[in-house]
Amino acid sequence: MPSQVKTVEIYSDKEMLSMAAANKILTIANLAIKKLGFFTIAIAGGSTPKRLYELLASDKYNTQTEWSKWHVFLGDERMVPDDSPDSNYGEAYKALLSKVPMSQANIHSVKTNLGNLAAEDYEHTISNALDLLGASGLDIIMLGLGSDCHTLSLFPGKISLTEKSKWIVATSAGTLPPPVDRITMTLPAVQAAKLALFLVAGPDKALAVKDTIEGSPDIKRPASLVTPSDTLSVCWMLDQAASANLTQSPK
Ligand code: 6PG
Repeated sequence: MPSQVKTVEIYSDKEMLSMAAANKILTIANLAIKKLGFFTIAIAGGSTPKRLYELLASDKYNTQTEWSKWHVFLGDERMVPDDSPDSNYGEAYKALLSKVPMSQANIHSVKTNLGNLAAEDYEHTISNALDLLGASGLDIIMLGLGSDCHTLSLFPGKISLTEKSKWIVATSAGTLPPPVDRITMTLPAVQAAKLALFLVAGPDKALAVKDTIEGSPDIKRPASLVTPSDTLSVCWMLDQAASANLTQSPK
């Protein structure tokens, strides 16, 4: 029985969900900075976390942490230029990374211009950054959920799900847009973290949330393969709409 747990938190709407996520991340970041002098996080792509990023950059939150002690990575990235609206880094940069006094040296984006060398390059980037910090894994990996139960860019049926050692692999597009190749963190990268933090909102995710949280781990539902261990806690932060199909009350 793993010593860490899976928790489910439900909030009335996306704004309350985003505010709760901001408070949780800041609390964890400040504890990490107090204990070790740094905080490491892989931020999620997609549209759901945009409001969270905007809140963290807002006057209400942006003075609550030492941004210079943050080390930011991308959980996954689309193989597009940084200025593309499909770029996870580009969208996070606009909403948060350009708005707070982080050290640019501590923001580790994917060099998508490297094409088929980008995955190996990013693996080295993460490995070198964590080695310099003396860290064996990330403090938080933020995760979204697709309506097909994918997370990061770990899509159903893709070989990336079977990766057992690399932390970063390249993958072709899944069935959901945008139809572009990706770079993604793998399950070993997630399992090496302290916290896998899912942020899921909207009625279109309700079935995927139920199947993933209440179903057994299944490669047809990649997000269901993110399970607690002796070192990894898993927290699902949901709005009411995304939780609508859950049959069990949150623990
Ligand atoms: C990506 C994300 C992906 C995303 C989910 C949910 O690059 O698209 O990493 O896993 O988190 O698809 O996306 P939305 O938040 O846009 O619904």
